[in-house]
Amino acid sequence: MSGTSLDGVDGVIVHFEGDRGRVIATAHTDYPTSLRQELIALSRPGENELERAALAAQEISRLYADTLRRLLDGRPAGVVRAVGCHGQTVRHRPQSRFSIQLLQPALIAELTGMAVVADFRSRDLAAGGQGAPLTPAFHQAQFGLKGRTRAVVNLGGIANLTVLGHDGRVLGFDTGPGNVLLDAWCQRHTGQRFDAGGAWAASGTPTPALLRSLLEDPYFGAPPPKSTGREHFNEAWLEAHLRGDERPEDVQATLLQLTVESVGMAIEAACPDAAEVYLCGGGARNAALVEALRARLRPRPVALTDTLGIGVEWVEAAAFAWLARRTTLGLAGNMPAVTGAAGPRVLGAIYPA
Ligand SMILES: Nc1ncnc2c1ncn2[C@@H]1O[C@H](COP(=O)(O)OP(=O)(O)O)[C@@H](O)[C@H]1O
Ligand SMILES: [Mg+2]
Repeated sequence: MSGTSLDGVDGVIVHFEGDRGRVIATAHTDYPTSLRQELIALSRPGENELERAALAAQEISRLYADTLRRLLDGRPAGVVRAVGCHGQTVRHRPQSRFSIQLLQPALIAELTGMAVVADFRSRDLAAGGQGAPLTPAFHQAQFGLKGRTRAVVNLGGIANLTVLGHDGRVLGFDTGPGNVLLDAWCQRHTGQRFDAGGAWAASGTPTPALLRSLLEDPYFGAPPPKSTGREHFNEAWLEAHLRGDERPEDVQATLLQLTVESVGMAIEAACPDAAEVYLCGGGARNAALVEALRARLRPRPVALTDTLGIGVEWVEAAAFAWLARRTTLGLAGNMPAVTGAAGPRVLGAIYPA
């Protein structure tokens, strides 16, 4: 998995017993700064995009293959039935029925000798869906509990909510920015890629007027199905709401509240009856963010998916292992109630070993 934060590649080996998995190995590869910058550039219109996108896809695929080699850690490649590879989203345009993930699955198959499953989103889009989010089906299989409504919040670059209803019904949608704006603002003003522990945000004070103005964006109030990305929530979007004389740490504190408030509103709208909330994604390692979410969601208990057996940073990667397994078995991976697709579909394409 490589998500909108552009931090790098997360890999897991998952052992499945039926529909539930156990993570038995993990590895992360950071993107080099030059690749991260190129991917930020490629997420907006620019010059010679086709060639630059192909070269970036190649570099990403080599990093995926490196991650897989480290994951195997001496095990023969044959122990892995298939690798689910998400690729790097550079344009997500569900309204125009496409979503582009940079990846060269053939190169990964060639470099690793493993079967690769890739291009998970296009079939759902072709069937009229958003192509996202795709993780709710995995959340249900892995974290669902009959008789109890659970909310799972993935705090990636973009945040998404999965509602696991007590009656087995599942909802899911992107709530808006997770870390993407926090990371961008932090990078610009401190030179750090992210605000470790949310310490810098905690040194500022949220500005209510700015928060209100950010929350006026129609995305937050729009009904699901909905999904979003960097094309919408980016630095230019933030700048359009700034006067220019704000203290940078106050803006950071306000951006943290934006993530908290948009997740809070989504939970109130979609699952006011949630008995508990589980957090995953890198943002769940942001202590200030987690504390603010706890305060916002009280009295609901808020815990990390670590307590359900999968560390917060590996849930998304495990989801794509699960989705790859579904594809190799000829089983549907999307949830039409989540994405809005016309029906369940077997997702992706298989590149044999
Ligand atoms: N210790 C930490 N403190 C604050 N934020 C963190 C920490 N660890 C990770 N993060 C955040 O998590 C992000 C990566 O999360 P991830 O789940 O990989 O998102 P994505 O799926 O969008 O790539 C980083 O960019 C950063 O914002
Ligand atoms: Mg990531």
